[in-house]
Amino acid sequence: MTDDVLVVHGGTPLSGQIRVRGAKNLVSKAMVAALLGDEPSRLFDVPRIRDVEVVRGLLELHGVKVTDGAEDGELVFDPANVESASTDEINVHAGSSRIPILFCGPLLHRLGHAFIPDLGGCHIGPRPIDFHIQALRQFGAVVDKAPEGMHLTAPTGLHGTKFELPYPSVGATEQVLLTAVLAEGVTELRNAAVEPEIIDLICVLQKMGAIIKVHTDRVIEIQGVPRLGGYTHRPIPDRIEAASWAAAALATGGRVEVLGAEQADMMTFLNVFRSVGGAYEVTDTRPPRQGSPGQEGGIRFWHPGGELRAVALETDVHPGFMTDWQQPLVVALTQARGLSIVHETVYEQRLGYTEALNKMGATIQVYRDCLGGTPCRFGRRNFKHSAVIAGPSKLHAADLVIPDLRAGFSHLIAALAAEGTSRVYGVDLINRGYEDFEAKLAALGAHVERP
Ligand code: EPZ
Repeated sequence: MTDDVLVVHGGTPLSGQIRVRGAKNLVSKAMVAALLGDEPSRLFDVPRIRDVEVVRGLLELHGVKVTDGAEDGELVFDPANVESASTDEINVHAGSSRIPILFCGPLLHRLGHAFIPDLGGCHIGPRPIDFHIQALRQFGAVVDKAPEGMHLTAPTGLHGTKFELPYPSVGATEQVLLTAVLAEGVTELRNAAVEPEIIDLICVLQKMGAIIKVHTDRVIEIQGVPRLGGYTHRPIPDRIEAASWAAAALATGGRVEVLGAEQADMMTFLNVFRSVGGAYEVTDTRPPRQGSPGQEGGIRFWHPGGELRAVALETDVHPGFMTDWQQPLVVALTQARGLSIVHETVYEQRLGYTEALNKMGATIQVYRDCLGGTPCRFGRRNFKHSAVIAGPSKLHAADLVIPDLRAGFSHLIAALAAEGTSRVYGVDLINRGYEDFEAKLAALGAHVERP
């Protein structure tokens, strides 16, 4: 057990207003993109989270000057003096995040070589990087895996290529984008991921001077250009964080307004939220006018009273139900009447956290079968990737150890919804992706304390 523990006195509905900033899964990639330019870039609304610190550290090691801008959350990146960093210096960041893999293309373009430390990130399955390596090799990179990390060179430069992803991986799509924009010639990527964060990264790259066409049927075509400039960008808001607070409102019988949440990016979540019996209202942003200060919009989520209803859902790539929305929502599903079914089709081992919920009184059974309409890659491979949740169950307090980021937030929600006092160990992991979550909990009236 660690000292890193939060004591949660559960049973109080969360109520109030919080704000989400730029999406973690875009901001960190936009920061890497700044390395590709020969002019400064400016990114707004950057959340103070661990992943941002890791990417900032890696950029600084490679000579990018990173400074805080005038606005809170604004970062300015000056890549005028990009330089090599030593393996030892880079290895300080080993095991801390998965973003370093995306430095491959930009460093090869800027320096002709790259060293990538061992990756970190959440333990939600094996999380291989074979698509990344295959794509990089097709661009012309030479990839050497060593015990301390991965060394890459590009002896004859990087050249456009045709590549089809075996699965629409978010990271591998970003890898191809960040490499193809400065590669010589045209790249065609088939079966690409088209998550809103990827479209926003394309917007960033386009602002820098890239030529990228997003065709129908998951085909992206990139025309390499000889140079890129800087960008000024306000990222899309964090739709995973917004949904996490929505699930917390529902599970605790509360009401939370998430300022900054964007309806268009959350449509699939909103449909499920309503099917379960949750209520929400989209509030639009009002620009300031003479005599009126204006107002930031968002989405207000609440439990309207009465019983919640069981649902069947499958996680999927965009525009499906995000895998990262699954864990927080399952806590609310423990309060729904009937049998809910969740088929996790993105990661093979993302249901382990349900054991902790069972310990708190939930009734969740996990299965190896595909319990859903879409047969997935894991059905015949013996992975427990479907769950049946029988509800409603009264949750009681427990001592919990946080296993990964999203599951960690779901543990926290469960502790907030449960009667009694829980101790949640390893909460610092939540700082990887949720800015100021303890301050936000306090703003929503949660009774939590550090012992
Ligand atoms: C991104 O991870 C996100 N992380 C994840 O969010 C998110 O869950 C995931 O996309 C799916 O939306 C970041 O953006 C930093 P993938 P990524 O490549 O890019 C398999 C969070 O909590 N695969 O789309 O690593 C892989 O094993 C995190 O914020 C290969 O087989 O995800 C998985 O089953 C967790 N070989 C599937 O593809 C590869 O080379 C999807 O992974 C790459 C991926």
